[in-house]
Amino acid sequence: MPPARSLTRRRMLELSGAAAVGIASGARPRLARGAGSPPLPVPTLIEARSGEPVTLTLQKSRHRFGAGAAVPSTGISASHLGPVVRVRTGDTVPFRVENRLDEETTLHWHGLLVPSEFDGGPHNTIAPGAVWTPEIALRQPPATTWFHPHPHGNTARQVYGGLAGMMIVSDGGDQDRGLPRTYGLDDLPLVLQDKRFARDGALRYEPTMMDLMHGFRGDTLLVNGAIGPVARVPAGVVRLRLLNAANARNFDLRFADRRPFFVVAGDAGYLNEPVELRRLVIAPAERYEILVDFSDGRPAVLATGPDPHEGMGPGMMMGMGRGPDRVGPAEPLVSFAPDPALAAAVTRLPRQLGRLASPDVNSAVAWRTFVLNPMMGMGMAGIHGMGGGRVQGGGHDHAAAQMMGINGRPFSMNRVDVTARLGTSEIWEIVSDAMAHPFHLHGASFRILGNSGRKPPAEQAGWKDVILVEDQAEILVRFDHPAPPRMPFMYHCHILEHEDHGMMGQFAVV
Ligand code: C2O
Ligand code: CU
Ligand code: CU
Repeated sequence: MPPARSLTRRRMLELSGAAAVGIASGARPRLARGAGSPPLPVPTLIEARSGEPVTLTLQKSRHRFGAGAAVPSTGISASHLGPVVRVRTGDTVPFRVENRLDEETTLHWHGLLVPSEFDGGPHNTIAPGAVWTPEIALRQPPATTWFHPHPHGNTARQVYGGLAGMMIVSDGGDQDRGLPRTYGLDDLPLVLQDKRFARDGALRYEPTMMDLMHGFRGDTLLVNGAIGPVARVPAGVVRLRLLNAANARNFDLRFADRRPFFVVAGDAGYLNEPVELRRLVIAPAERYEILVDFSDGRPAVLATGPDPHEGMGPGMMMGMGRGPDRVGPAEPLVSFAPDPALAAAVTRLPRQLGRLASPDVNSAVAWRTFVLNPMMGMGMAGIHGMGGGRVQGGGHDHAAAQMMGINGRPFSMNRVDVTARLGTSEIWEIVSDAMAHPFHLHGASFRILGNSGRKPPAEQAGWKDVILVEDQAEILVRFDHPAPPRMPFMYHCHILEHEDHGMMGQFAVV
């Protein structure tokens, strides 16, 4: 495309995008892919039933991200991303996970509380052409979870390419709770990501050393794989299941018109009551369910501010403290067009949801500290020397690249770092070195006791499996699912570049 034409086209799209979403000039809607305002893609819903096999196929495909041609992509039983799988508590679902990629993979059920042999971590490898058949027994509170590959050293590239999907664990009680529950109508999945595209429209993942250090961020925002989509919604209360499936970016969510929204659930279950907010930071791998009232019939835009935790500032590199919150215009993620023709099933906010007691600190049988080290064993000269360089192999050369770690040690498949006792709780203290890290662990959920010296905000007071740690935090972790030493669970930073480069450890639960 000649430069002059592309400039005109881009400018035109920016103008039309800004008009369509009605936000202040200065915001730069990333609609340059020529998509205009596509309808929000709603992933296929798979309703799992006890005993009936559910097949998920990890495959290469082609996908159109905008108005341009289809480009190479990957997806899970789809051309890009995956279906939404809804499972019922109490059921046992036999999955068939088919690997039709030309490389090894795994499929991890992020947020499902299952024994480690079914967890889909780096030990549960699926060779190209092979099928993995975990039996998933759903014995946990209702929650929005997700699934994504987790192969040793190659997670970031596989997830970035499109391998991620959402799972809904339901107990059938949402009618009694007064929550919207019609999938695709007033109960919508929103998978938030950021990507870079090459000039020909292809997805680009060529991390530089700085991208590995800070985590790979894109310049284009996508929701359910679409750029700047619009969702038709009923003019009532709508439930949005937010999943941050970006490799590294934190989204700083708000509505362009500053309308309030109400958080009803965090990563691993419902809050006691809706929490009213006007701004919400969602870290990589976190989930929040929010209710939004569209009964005024006005269109609304869900936007994000700049990542408040992007990168390590020069001061941070020197260990002299944290960079300031970044300021800048909000960028639109997804627009909502209330349609009076759609029946609004819910018009009032629910009052009570869960019945959580406050965490019982005295139940803890151990205290452990985990320091997340992004620059292990590298001097400043090393970092500066490699600053602009491109990393060969796209993160594929994992053996050589374990430059990050936890407590001074890079990840090893052959070392169990921690052993917890089944049926107990422990306090884990997480310390972030140099920048904010989203810490996650498998096969267990936790309550936040403190983060940066403060009690958790109300929207983070429930059960969780990811915590964004800026400085230091304490969590109370409950270990109810077994992991023998030969097949441990993982704990790691969910900046996928950090995870792949060694910021991960293993724990057994016996
Ligand atoms: Cu979302 Cu260890 O993963
Ligand atoms: Cu996980
Ligand atoms: Cu990290």
